[in-house]
Amino acid sequence: MKLKGCIFDLDGVIVDTAKYHYQAWKKLAVMLNINFTEEDNERLKGVSRMASLDIILEIGNMTPDDRTKEGYASLKNRWYLDYINQMMPDEILPGSLEFISELKNAGIKVGLGSASKNTPLILECLGIAKLFDAIADGNNVSNAKPDPEVFVTASKMLGVLPENCVVFEDAVAGVEAALNAGMLCVGIGSEKILTNAHLVVSGLDKMSLRKLRVFAKRPDL
Ligand code: G6P
Ligand code: MG
Repeated sequence: MKLKGCIFDLDGVIVDTAKYHYQAWKKLAVMLNINFTEEDNERLKGVSRMASLDIILEIGNMTPDDRTKEGYASLKNRWYLDYINQMMPDEILPGSLEFISELKNAGIKVGLGSASKNTPLILECLGIAKLFDAIADGNNVSNAKPDPEVFVTASKMLGVLPENCVVFEDAVAGVEAALNAGMLCVGIGSEKILTNAHLVVSGLDKMSLRKLRVFAKRPDL
């Protein structure tokens, strides 16, 4: 493939907010007496706020009405905001800034594709709002991953065709979204979990432009 654009997920790829999402959901689960484990949390990664709540309520066999659900979701978000408001630039995951600046220096467009409505706030706290050529997030996209909308929107904003984009994702739903968009996908995390990604690395500190170019030239892709 001809590499022209890279699109990064935010939570779990650029910054480890996944642990804060988990802590805030766990607090809600404890309040509702639901046994919610770290393993269950894998299913929440990349998934929108309301869809995440639905998964937790399903685990607890609960079916509250929509108003109650809205209340639970905003309670969780308040707890989550308490964590992320204290976040500092040193929480940017290792290798992210180096890799992104390598891409930019090589003329590759860099976009962000996240389900999170808190994306602008997180980027602001980390001081990296200006880093991306395009941002598609929970505020300008309506269909959650695994729907490809967030990545297709980011590629359009970048002016790059989907087949010329590589997505970096830590979530199963996000890998599926990238594949549904017709893009190549580098999984960030474990090969055992991200089985459908075209390549899996443990973090962006294991990526480089050279490695990405080799990957993009793989004849099987
Ligand atoms: C990301 C995270 C999910 C989270 C979603 C919505 O995709 O991986 O765990 O539920 O964003 O985040 P928000 O900040 O809008 O609640
Ligand atoms: Mg993620």
